Amino acid sequence: MPPGHAPVYITTPIYYVNDRPHIGHAYTTTVCDVYARFQRAMGRDVFFLTGTDEHGIKVEKSAAERGLSPQAWADQNAAEFRRILGLFALTNDDFIRTTEARHVSQVQAFIERLKARDVVYLGKFEGWYDEGQEEYYTETKAKEVDYRSPVSGRPLVRASEENYFFRLSAFQERLEALYREHPGFVRPEARRNEVLGRLRDGLQDFPISRTNFSWGIPMPGDEKHVLWVWVDALFNYITALNLALEPGAGADAAARADLARQRFWPASYHVMGKEILWFHAVVWPAMLMALGLPQPHCIYAHSFWVAGGQKMSKSLGNFVDLESIQAYLGRYGLDAWRYFMIARGPLAATDADFTAAAFHEAYTTDLVNTVGNCGSRVTAMIGRYFDGRVPADTAEPIGDIDWAAFTREQVARCLGAYEELDLGAAAASALAIVRRVDAFINATEPFKLAKDESRRETLGAILYRCAEAVRISALLLEPIMPQRMGELLAALSAAPTQPLDREVHWGLLRPGASTAKVALFPRVDAPGAAPSA
Ligand code: MSP
Repeated sequence: MPPGHAPVYITTPIYYVNDRPHIGHAYTTTVCDVYARFQRAMGRDVFFLTGTDEHGIKVEKSAAERGLSPQAWADQNAAEFRRILGLFALTNDDFIRTTEARHVSQVQAFIERLKARDVVYLGKFEGWYDEGQEEYYTETKAKEVDYRSPVSGRPLVRASEENYFFRLSAFQERLEALYREHPGFVRPEARRNEVLGRLRDGLQDFPISRTNFSWGIPMPGDEKHVLWVWVDALFNYITALNLALEPGAGADAAARADLARQRFWPASYHVMGKEILWFHAVVWPAMLMALGLPQPHCIYAHSFWVAGGQKMSKSLGNFVDLESIQAYLGRYGLDAWRYFMIARGPLAATDADFTAAAFHEAYTTDLVNTVGNCGSRVTAMIGRYFDGRVPADTAEPIGDIDWAAFTREQVARCLGAYEELDLGAAAASALAIVRRVDAFINATEPFKLAKDESRRETLGAILYRCAEAVRISALLLEPIMPQRMGELLAALSAAPTQPLDREVHWGLLRPGASTAKVALFPRVDAPGAAPSA
């Protein structure tokens, strides 16, 4: 690990076990995976967390419909989520489930601290309730949404209940200061502005316990209440790091290992979809303030994958579901799927359209015709003209490009973009290097020089430069396409041995190293075309 660099911690939302895994879950988790792989390649100390959100009335009800206990239903679905996430070559360091004892006991410890600090108190709620979302609305808020759930469209129901409340109103000023002092706290910018707009309306205390069902974490000291699922869920980000454990909680090796995880707090990035930003951008920071814990570096709320310009939804039946993802994986391969998620996905403030045609176009243009074609051209020529050994470079200027300077510039852009979670831009800078190699080959025509023995040194220098540029772009693309880029680097005998930012220096490819011809991305028929035999 480079000295002075803080540990890196990245999280996905924890997914509701009631849902079947779909493109949304695959997307956010892949974004986090790419970031985690990038940071590990940089030699940093990384923790990447995902998991499942398992409490609440919806889980209780759907378990009952199936004649199962909520725990059995949650076990079954959490296992399915874990299995599915395995399809995407994810490198999460842990998978947290909110029904695990380690989570439950720590959440209770945190709630007790909040009660002791009078930030959680018993009160009475009068207002409206969104049954689907398990969310309470004050009269003003309910009026704003026309007394209907903004999510399901179903009418809100009248509610009057004794509840434990979280004293959110006490954090108004501190939250405003946090936003003022850390302009990058919520990203992208458009999302930050939305949160600021809502903050200006003023914050109100809100109920965090329920008594109308029992599938939740019991409220410590008052077990007829269970904790509202959202508060329970947010804590996962710190229970996975054992943050409630006191130093000296146990002296054995396992206890020490548990405590060692605490070094990952505060999180570098909490990544999620924009629909759940409020909880992460306001409720969560206030809870952390109340507990005296430092704030995450950035709350990143991406936009949505939509289908043909329309929101994906179960009722419209246009969700890119698991079966359809598997069809893409079968047809194009996992790396192509990951590439499309990253290069064309909705990380920025606008939604991204998922269509078979766009997928096919990105695959063919960027992967088959650019990365794959360039990789096979270069390795094939080195095979043919230099017996598969990397030739030596010379000092001779060739063409109108200074490769060391050009790659240095693209590398700086690419690494900077990765750090900022601007993953589409990171991919684009790496691709720009490959495109330049193609143009260089077309301009210098090594296949013609090969016919002239007196130009052999120049031929070698051209191919060295091509292979070196390909090596650098493969290293930069490896967090996104680990399988194919691993193959490409192996074919150049150039598996990385040091941190990425040092490995991408121009000139590290070793002359004389053996190479192998690669075929990375096979051409695939356009969707709708008859499948080839
Ligand atoms: N359990 C809560 C989160 C608690 S976090 C403390 C939850 N779960 S969820 O299963 O509904 O997952 C929501 C997340 O899935 C979104 O925030 C986003 O990360 C992802 N997506 C769901 N649909 C999506 C798209 N159509 N497009 C991109 N990602 C979306 O909310």
